[in-house]
Amino acid sequence: MIENGEYQQFLESVRFVYGYDFTEYAEASVIRRIRNFMETNKIGSLKDLGRMVMKDESAFEHFVQEITVNVTEMFRDPLFYKSLRKNVVNRLATYPFIKVWIAGCSTGEEVYSMAILLREEGLLERTVIYATDINQDALQKAKEGISSISNMKSYTENYLKAGGKNSFSDYYKAKYNSVLWDKSLRQNIVFSVHNLAMDKSFNEFQLILCRNVLIYFNQSLQSKVISLFYESLCSFGFLSLGNKESLLFADKQKCFEEIDKKEKIFMKIK
Ligand SMILES: C[S@@+](CC[C@H](N)C(=O)[O-])C[C@H]1O[C@@H](n2cnc3c(N)ncnc32)[C@H](O)[C@@H]1O
Repeated sequence: MIENGEYQQFLESVRFVYGYDFTEYAEASVIRRIRNFMETNKIGSLKDLGRMVMKDESAFEHFVQEITVNVTEMFRDPLFYKSLRKNVVNRLATYPFIKVWIAGCSTGEEVYSMAILLREEGLLERTVIYATDINQDALQKAKEGISSISNMKSYTENYLKAGGKNSFSDYYKAKYNSVLWDKSLRQNIVFSVHNLAMDKSFNEFQLILCRNVLIYFNQSLQSKVISLFYESLCSFGFLSLGNKESLLFADKQKCFEEIDKKEKIFMKIK
């Protein structure tokens, strides 16, 4: 049993000691994950968990990994990428230099998918992709550019559905049970820690992807994060959210025009 008071107090201590703010994450989901973590690590109470993570940074890192859901895949929701090709790429092509921010990039599959798409559309060489996440472990995996070979069948299917123009196997080299994404895809990618709940805008972008991240936030944090994206986009820049996400709770909702309702692509219009 986790009492509301002790839950809030625990999150406040985490914020105070580590500077990570989970107070505005969707409560039911965080509590479920805290329970899982306590069960797996045989921790009897939230107080004991607090004592453990406050004095042991590596235990805290493990805790962050449990709280942040890192599920991702190459060309996840393939029709979203098809829509990007159709509705966004030609407008990106009008810029001499393109900056893309992928916020909440997890282990990087979304970043490599985007790099492949931009390569095929002839834009990768003049693009810098900033790939950020709160989870350092996931970011390290993203930097290494390695995926499991067992996923390649479904990733190839996704790639084809997403309008892929080449052979998907051109983009990786198989090694034992893993694949390594082509080094040349990584050339213009900057991986960095960025916490959407606390950190500020750090550049101006033509395109921001933040997919399947806002679902873990409460309405007020969703609105704050959309305002952060608003500040970080150039005029007529594009914002893409996940299938289950929307601008419904955002103060800045009226500053965006819907470009693809189903695939959740928006353009900043004012
Ligand atoms: C379900 S994954 C989504 C990955 C990818 N965007 C996709 O759609 O496949 C959610 C990611 O959001 C990250 N995340 C959660 N809270 C965050 C925060 N406050 N700031 C930045 N990233 C966060 C998690 O670490 C995780 O990698």
